[in-house]
Amino acid sequence: MHFSLSQEQELVREMARKFAQQSIMPDIRERDAAHKSDRSMLDKMAEAGILGVSMPAKYSGSDTDYISLGIVCEELERADTSARVVMSVHSGLHCMTLLQWGTAEQKQRWLPNLAKGTKVGAFGLTEPNAGSDAINIKTTAKKDGASYILNGQKTWISLADYADQFLVIARLAGGSAERSALSVEKGEGKGKASDMVAFIVDRNTPGFSSRALKGKLGVRAGNTGEIFFTDMRVDESCRLGDEGDGFKIAMSALDHGRYTVAAGAVGIIEGCLDASKEYAKSRIVGGEEIGKKQLVQQMIANMVQGREIGRLLYYKVGWMKNMGMRHTKEVSLAKWINCNNAFKAADDAIEIHGAYGYSDEFPVERHFRNSRGAMIYEGTREIHTLVQAEYEMGYRADRPLKRTLPTWPFSTDV
Ligand code: CAA
Repeated sequence: MHFSLSQEQELVREMARKFAQQSIMPDIRERDAAHKSDRSMLDKMAEAGILGVSMPAKYSGSDTDYISLGIVCEELERADTSARVVMSVHSGLHCMTLLQWGTAEQKQRWLPNLAKGTKVGAFGLTEPNAGSDAINIKTTAKKDGASYILNGQKTWISLADYADQFLVIARLAGGSAERSALSVEKGEGKGKASDMVAFIVDRNTPGFSSRALKGKLGVRAGNTGEIFFTDMRVDESCRLGDEGDGFKIAMSALDHGRYTVAAGAVGIIEGCLDASKEYAKSRIVGGEEIGKKQLVQQMIANMVQGREIGRLLYYKVGWMKNMGMRHTKEVSLAKWINCNNAFKAADDAIEIHGAYGYSDEFPVERHFRNSRGAMIYEGTREIHTLVQAEYEMGYRADRPLKRTLPTWPFSTDV
């Protein structure tokens, strides 16, 4: 076991930090205040090669390991959550799930454009009545010849208006799945994981539409919306995995997405430390810098604790990904702990800034609003609390996966 980053990982950190400083920091305050998401941010990320990080070179990716993806997320979220969210949905939830579950033909068809950033991917699981209760989604997919007809609605979808393609989870309608589809439709809460199916859906498919959600507390420089499917015909070649794999694919996607959120949360803590240290050294009270006051130091020390624990937690998950080990338990723990610590760090950072922390003159109020969302998406803190207790009590145990993420270094037949 060794804990130092490789030269390549350090270079990735440097590249992502420079990108954040040059392309996010200069106007993030204004974009956040204006609730202005910007499609050109995706082009800048593509140009910098960020959208292909941790994808195999065979598919035009950077060929870097999975820890590198976490490092990029940390550095981006140190500046603002909106760019990290792009990585979560595009790289984590979409590309890595495609890499894990796609056939050779599907990976060749989609991954090169995604890794180059000429196409951007997103994820559609959550519905108005099914967030934590993902097993009871109502979107249906009805087989019709060599295609499926999709009907339904997804909400809280990051990049809903910008993504070119979506990994969509639906419930099979008709045949043996008819009964469970009907009981979910009636709100009886009897969905079955084995009745679910996943697709890669192109936004240009007739029957697809999207709409932005307004009035968010945080991530105001990011696009979040709803997507709708109305008698949308999707070819069966766009189905990921087999019929019945949909829930497993959704959960695998969350193993990847939660990893990026856990890493990003460390970036929020770093962003809070950056601002708090600078402020605490310049603010003089009673003839001395407030950084010298012990109660301020307590808050700084707590942030350091959160950053160091957070890194160990996400580096471990990245390492497990590299090794091809299942990490559903570990990633849930990392996401849960790191997001809690990020929120606490942002709260303390406001405390250190006093009244100035309550204004958007300093970045800490933005980190505070942004960090609150991460305690909800990709599994609420209540879900992760229960999952951890269930593992510990022996009520939950992981079985070997049907399809695993390729190990790193990537082999030629990845
Ligand atoms: N990988 C592969 N398969 C998995 C898996 C994983 N990580 N986790 C579970 N599975 C499989 C199981 O093995 C099981 O299959 P078998 O029966 O064949 O073994 C099947 O899936 C069902 O698993 P569980 O019994 O564990 O399912 P559950 O009903 O107990 O899950 C839950 C409950 C953990 C609470 C789950 O519903 C959950 O995580 N809910 C939260 C959903 C969530 O995080 N939503 C976030 C939406 S995305 C988002 O927010 C992104 C955005 O755009 C902002």
